[in-house]
Amino acid sequence: MTDPSPGRARRPRPLVVDVHVPAESHSYPVLIGRGTIARLGVELQQRLGHSGTVALVSDSTVTRLHAAAVQANLEAQGFTVAAIVVPAGEAHKTTGTLFDVIGGMIASGLGRRDVVVALGGGVVGDLAGLAAALFMRGVPVVQCPTTLLAQVDASVGGKVAVDVPAGKNMVGAFHFPLFVVIDPELLVTLGDRELAQGLAEMLKHALLFSADHLQALLSAAPAIYARNFDIITPLVATSVGLKAACVGRDPWETGEAGKGRVLLNLGHTVGHAIEAASGFQVAHGEAVALGLRAAARISELKGLAEPGLEALVVDALTCLRLPTGLDEWLVGERGVAVERALQSDKKRAAGSVSYVALAGVGEPSVLSLALRDLIGLLRQGIVAG
Ligand SMILES: NC(=O)c1ccc[n+]([C@@H]2O[C@H](COP(=O)([O-])OP(=O)(O)OC[C@H]3O[C@@H](n4cnc5c(N)ncnc54)[C@H](O)[C@@H]3O)[C@@H](O)[C@H]2O)c1
Repeated sequence: MTDPSPGRARRPRPLVVDVHVPAESHSYPVLIGRGTIARLGVELQQRLGHSGTVALVSDSTVTRLHAAAVQANLEAQGFTVAAIVVPAGEAHKTTGTLFDVIGGMIASGLGRRDVVVALGGGVVGDLAGLAAALFMRGVPVVQCPTTLLAQVDASVGGKVAVDVPAGKNMVGAFHFPLFVVIDPELLVTLGDRELAQGLAEMLKHALLFSADHLQALLSAAPAIYARNFDIITPLVATSVGLKAACVGRDPWETGEAGKGRVLLNLGHTVGHAIEAASGFQVAHGEAVALGLRAAARISELKGLAEPGLEALVVDALTCLRLPTGLDEWLVGERGVAVERALQSDKKRAAGSVSYVALAGVGEPSVLSLALRDLIGLLRQGIVAG
């Protein structure tokens, strides 16, 4: 393959990994590689078999940084581009913004044969994906994730949603993308705190499914923060492959406990509670990091895992520059707030939670835990002093 990016300096041939996500009749490729975003127009033309209108949905930050190059790339293939810009941030992942996006599609004359391109983090991917699912009962969407979290997690799996006052991601759909383009070089403009959000999800994938991936991730931590894209790219590909295999086994999230997408909740039960109890001052990935430590603690105290798993997770979090201070969220006023948030978790049935635990790295297991036991065990494990 030749370098498809006009105007860019010649670079080594990009690594393009094709990950197929089988989902009954649906299967879509995830193209991963340095500079892959420059393939967008050509790929789209080839897959649609024509050039029409593209609704290019992005947020205000990503538009400023990356949208002009993507628009030029699409226009070079004969597409007419209607840029739709939403305000940046989770606070705008609402039904109001959703209908603004749909209004933009109508105003641009988007038709059934046209396509939506989501260029941004998970917020844009979720908003644009749901707008594409609803517009004319469904037009294709191409996901072009620009945060590490969206690259390794949100863009793969086909879940799209917006938040409503009653809860996060409560109004949504499954809308599998036509294809996904993951270009790690887009992360060059992403700050360290945002990068860490994605590393928490990569650590989750490694703990769930692969000791090798865990080792590779930890060895690469300094290179990741140094934005060494030769190192980052294969790690992103591995994480996407692990998530893709999991969602491929359970594309519609109907799998029995322990066999499907439920595993991807590792670290999220306690993580969500800490995120909510902090008034969202603790970012999602940071809260998941603390939730991963909680899962390791529970696994040990339930006798599922050998002693040492929690220490291993703490070392991994430290290496990846993620927080480890779980105990401060289990006591005092914070502890009360976390307990209250756990009680209102929408996934909790009749006082118990389906809790994803680990028998070891790469050995996930789902426990049914009474809420009281969950809190009690976590507190029992508080390190004295
Ligand atoms: N659909 C799913 O399966 C799924 C899975 C996980 C998370 N999510 C959703 O994803 C969202 C979180 O995603 P996120 O962490 O990407 O948040 P985000 O989309 O809000 O992006 C974080 C910030 O980074 C900025 N940004 C994005 N790309 C950038 C770049 N390349 N350079 C500089 N800044 C950039 C954004 O403007 C934003 O301010 C949540 O709403 C969550 O519910 C969805």
